[in-house]
Amino acid sequence: MSKILVTGGTGYIGSHTAIELIKSGHEVLIIDDLSNSKIEALDIIEKLSGKRPVFEQFKLRDSAKVDDFFEEYDIDAVIHFAASKAVGESVAFPMKYYKNNLVSLANVVDAMSVNNVKNIVFSSSATVYGQPDKLPATEETPILPAESPYGNTKQIGEEMLLDQTKASDTFTAIALRYFNPIGAHESGENGELPMGTPNNLMPFITQTAIGLRDELKIFGDDYNTPDGTAVRDYIHVVDIAKAHIKAVERMIDGKTESQFEVFNLGTGKGFSVKQVIESFEKTTGVNLNYSIAPRRIGDVEQIYASTEKANEILGWRADKTLDEMTLSAWKWEKHLKENK
Ligand code: UD1
Repeated sequence: MSKILVTGGTGYIGSHTAIELIKSGHEVLIIDDLSNSKIEALDIIEKLSGKRPVFEQFKLRDSAKVDDFFEEYDIDAVIHFAASKAVGESVAFPMKYYKNNLVSLANVVDAMSVNNVKNIVFSSSATVYGQPDKLPATEETPILPAESPYGNTKQIGEEMLLDQTKASDTFTAIALRYFNPIGAHESGENGELPMGTPNNLMPFITQTAIGLRDELKIFGDDYNTPDGTAVRDYIHVVDIAKAHIKAVERMIDGKTESQFEVFNLGTGKGFSVKQVIESFEKTTGVNLNYSIAPRRIGDVEQIYASTEKANEILGWRADKTLDEMTLSAWKWEKHLKENK
C-alpha cells in the first residue's frame, strides 16, 4: 500500500484512476481546485471503490499551500493530472495555460524535492507528435512544434521533468502520452462531465443523442482517410486509469530503466469520426443527427499509437473495444439525465 497524491483527482481521468488505485490497495489523496469538476466526484469514487480519498481544494499555483500539503502528508508518489485542457481556450488565453499547467507543475516538483518524494506520473498527450510522417506513432516519433499553448504546456511539462531528473539522482518521472480517452465506468456512474459545450467528440455525440445539442458537426470529410473523416486512437478511460497503476507501481518498486520514461497509451487502432458514430448508433440503437462541417483548425488527419513499448515494458494493454467505449459513454449520459 502506498500513499498516492492524485492532483486533478476529481476530473475525468483522475477520478477513474483514483477508483482503480483504491481498488489496488493504495491510499489516495486528492488535490483539485474544482475548476473543471464537481465535489460529487468524491462520493462517486467512494461508492465505486469503497473508500473516500483525503481531499483538499486549492490551486496548485499557490506554492505555500502545496508545500503545506506535502509537509502534512507523507506522500510516496504523485500522479499529476491537474491541468487545463481546452485547446481553443489556450489560444485565446495562453497565460492561463502556462500558469495552470506549468507554474503548478513547478510547485509540485519543488515540494516533492523538499520533501524527498521521488516519483511522479505526468499526464502528457499524443498532441506532442502533431501529424507524424509515419504511423503508428512510437515513443521515438519526433516531437513537432506545438500547435497551441495547451500542446506546448505538455511538451514543456515533459522537459521540466526531464531536467529535474538530471538535477537529482533519485527523482523519477513517467510521462504517459494519452491518445483519445473516451467512455465511462461500467457502472455508468462515473464519466466525463464537460462544463459548457464539449470540445471533444464523444461527449458531443452523447449530448446530441440525449437532446442537449441539435446536431453533431463532423469537422471535415475530405481528409485522406478511407471515409474522408479524421482518424484517432480512441481508448477506454478505465484502460487509461489502469496504466497509471502500472506506472506508479513500477516507480515505487524501483523497476524503471531510466529516471525519465515515456509511454504511449492507446489501443494501436485508428477509427474515423464516422466509425465512432457508427459504433455509437449500433451499440445504443440511437440515430445521431449530424452534418458535415469544415475542418477544425489545428486538427491532424490521422494518428494512432504504437502500443509495443507500453505492452512490453509497462506490462499494460488496453483491452476494451470501441463498442464498449461508446456504449459506456451512453450509459453515463443517461445516468446524468436520470440524476439531474
Ligand atoms: C483534442 C485536442 C488534443 C487534446 C485532446 C484532449 C485539438 C486539435 N486536439 O484531441 O490536443 O489532448 O483533445 O482534450 O483540439 N470532432 C468532430 N466534431 C466535434 C468534435 C470532434 O468531428 O464536435 C472530430 C475532430 O475533428 C477529431 C475527432 O473528432 O477528428 C476527435 O476530436 P477530439 O475528441 O476533440 O480529440 P482530438 O482533436 O484528437
